[in-house]
Amino acid sequence: MSTLIKNGRIITATDDYVADILIENEKISAIGKKLPEKVDSIIDAKGMLIFPGGIDPHVHLEMPFMGTFSSDTYETGTRAALYGGTTTVIDFILQKQGNSLRAAFDEWSGRATGNAVGDYSFHMAVTDFNDNTKGEIKEMVEEGITSFKTFMAYKGALMIDDRQMIGLMEEVKQQGGMVTVHATNGDVIDYLVQKHRSEGKLSPLYHYLSQPEVTEAEASERFVDMTNYTECPGYIVHLTCEGALNAVRNATRRNQKVFVETCIQYLVLDASLYEKDFDGAKWVMSPPLREKKDQATLWAGINQGLVQIVGTDHCPFKWEQKLMGKDDFSKIPNGHPAIEHRMELLFSEGVAKGKISLNKYVEVTSSNAAKIFGMFPKKGTIAVDSDADIVIFDPNTKHTISVDTHHMNTDYSAYEGWEVTGKVKTVLLRGKVAIDNNECLIDKGYGQFVKRKKVSQNI
Ligand code: URP
Ligand code: ZN
Ligand code: ZN
Ligand code: ZN
Repeated sequence: MSTLIKNGRIITATDDYVADILIENEKISAIGKKLPEKVDSIIDAKGMLIFPGGIDPHVHLEMPFMGTFSSDTYETGTRAALYGGTTTVIDFILQKQGNSLRAAFDEWSGRATGNAVGDYSFHMAVTDFNDNTKGEIKEMVEEGITSFKTFMAYKGALMIDDRQMIGLMEEVKQQGGMVTVHATNGDVIDYLVQKHRSEGKLSPLYHYLSQPEVTEAEASERFVDMTNYTECPGYIVHLTCEGALNAVRNATRRNQKVFVETCIQYLVLDASLYEKDFDGAKWVMSPPLREKKDQATLWAGINQGLVQIVGTDHCPFKWEQKLMGKDDFSKIPNGHPAIEHRMELLFSEGVAKGKISLNKYVEVTSSNAAKIFGMFPKKGTIAVDSDADIVIFDPNTKHTISVDTHHMNTDYSAYEGWEVTGKVKTVLLRGKVAIDNNECLIDKGYGQFVKRKKVSQNI
């Protein structure tokens, strides 16, 4: 099966030019002007932008969490991602405390294999670091799972202490991997949650007030200091605020390998949404949305190169699940649905409004994730021999986001009524047309597991 995409304006992290792209055997086989048209199909992309398929390195599909499961399956979640131009996601496996990493890997693989529509990989969340776990790190790296997630919060559930953190960093460094972190101070948050509850302050607003900026700044500083001491590459997920970014500034002054992801919601939404009584539950996530000034910090951080990736932390729940916390904010499942909207929202709010360049857009939605997480140049760029993961994007069409038209398995939209400029028109995944004009043309099971390289071979 061969396909020719003609006349598109190709944007990579570094380039911007008009050319044709020839696709054969799932890969890009040639790029040039006026390539021969002896192919099975031709797509005319005149007037369109051509991006490498988006990579969202922070999603939670079918994740057991806070007494329920996130509501998108591998099928619905990766399909919705494709509709929005994201061809590869990295999901989080959660080790059960007392159990092995292998058991968790098998459980997650069982859910994903044969069900994913788009390509996927895994991070391994280590929630119980002990001598047995230590022995499994090498094994996981050999399986292509080279990033190990830690939680400094969710006390009593996912959180590990600093003793475990240091031990994990030493082993991961040894095996050529990376430690990633949810960096907020779990003890301080736990104290504030209990304080608010005992005072009868139970609405979603108090979720926000229980996780002030200092909890994130302090934990981020502690994390980067520990990565400095152990010389382990580090990555902070869903960074939201100035205080936390300053911790990273210090790390870069020491020439540390510390990378930063923010998420689309922290760039475009703010904490005023928590003032809407229980409706605020739609945006109950950790860390919470911050202030407008933090949005400005994050946009600047992207342009300064301090923030390398914009993900989603897609962790969707249906309204019925959010209602588990109607009388107590601490029982509202944390997370919001966004996997489908990241690429279009970032284009609309970032590129179309002149905040970031087209090249920067490709960097933060695709190329940097591929590089940092060991998938480059298979994924993350448009080049000969790369996977033909391609987004054909109409930069001028406007449309409105709504629960009535989205494809995520949730019965509300966290972005209801948002008008966006720019629309995903066609998406190819490994050479196959996956999405065309609002229709999905591939089935579950097409999505493949992406085995990742050691971080030490990549960055
Ligand atoms: O609220 C969130 N972020 N839910 C998902 C789990 C996590 O902390 O990333
Ligand atoms: Zn988190
Ligand atoms: Zn998350
Ligand atoms: Zn859309």
